[in-house]
Amino acid sequence: MSTPKSILHGGYHHPLSRSWQAERSVTKDMLMYPIFITDDPEAMVPLEALPEQYRIGINRLEAFLAPLVKKGLKSVIIFGVPLKEGVKDPEGSKAEDPQGPTIEAVKLIRHAFPNVFVACDVCLCEYTSHGHCGILRDDGTLNNDLSIERIKNVAVAYAKAGAHCVAPSDMMDGRIGAIKQGLMDSGYAHKVMLISYAAKFAGAFYGPFREAANSAPSFGDRRCYQLPANGRGLARRAVLRDMEEGADAIMVKPGTPYLDILRETADLAKDYPIAVYQVSGEYSMLYQAAKAGVFDLKAAVLETMTGFTRAGATLVLTYYTPRLLDWLDEE
Ligand code: PBG
Ligand code: ZN
Repeated sequence: MSTPKSILHGGYHHPLSRSWQAERSVTKDMLMYPIFITDDPEAMVPLEALPEQYRIGINRLEAFLAPLVKKGLKSVIIFGVPLKEGVKDPEGSKAEDPQGPTIEAVKLIRHAFPNVFVACDVCLCEYTSHGHCGILRDDGTLNNDLSIERIKNVAVAYAKAGAHCVAPSDMMDGRIGAIKQGLMDSGYAHKVMLISYAAKFAGAFYGPFREAANSAPSFGDRRCYQLPANGRGLARRAVLRDMEEGADAIMVKPGTPYLDILRETADLAKDYPIAVYQVSGEYSMLYQAAKAGVFDLKAAVLETMTGFTRAGATLVLTYYTPRLLDWLDEE
């Protein structure tokens, strides 16, 4: 039996009344596009595991981004992918190479597209010979102190090159405090945003990225530094710690399998921007499912975006950004 209060349909019959249900809706401003920059200046290499994404050389970058900026692209996050022989070593020394792909890309984008917000992922795994995100001890475990010292120096170098934002994804303990201190000591803390990948979970969904970035560990895995999938309490502790250490925003990663964590993080860090990373495995899964006829790609991706905003995200890192710039115009 219906009662006056049990009738919900009337409240969302019209498209406009449906739009009023959201606390927040998906806009172009909240998209940050992850791009892979490699050290062959002429490269434009399609990534098999990440369809429609590329490893891009510095000489091709402006032409690649120009049409996207025209459509409303507001921000990118850069991943450097050095592929030349002999670049990698145990300390990841080349991460802040002034002639390396990341720093060159920051400078180019700042110059060519003054209105684009430029973030850099900060990690060592693309530059270390062993493929781990920090510096190792002789027994193969992490040397956290040496790692955060290196990672701080890399972050400061990216800030000096002109990055608006640094986002360490390495998951070392104390990196946020170390980087914030490094930015303060070098005079960049007032103008460089520090996004913490605080709630970053280990798992299967990073597979395509590691192919794209050539950053798979040569032995072992990342389970001793990235969070265990069942680690809700650890995620809360990491979020609280990183706020305490001076993060300016908090990220949850991956996205869809961790929507509960995203909601909890948004509640826990309610005075902070909340980012979510729809990672490479999520991207490819949606892409391949649509290709197999499971659903319409646009409808499915927009639904994941709605899920992210509903769960509390204010910023979404997604490889679907180029598509979304079109799709959001069609809405
Ligand atoms: C590097 C890094 C990874 C991702 C972002 N930064 C890979 C990893 O931690 O193994 C994953 C992004 C993606 O899968 O799209 N630390
Ligand atoms: Zn890494």
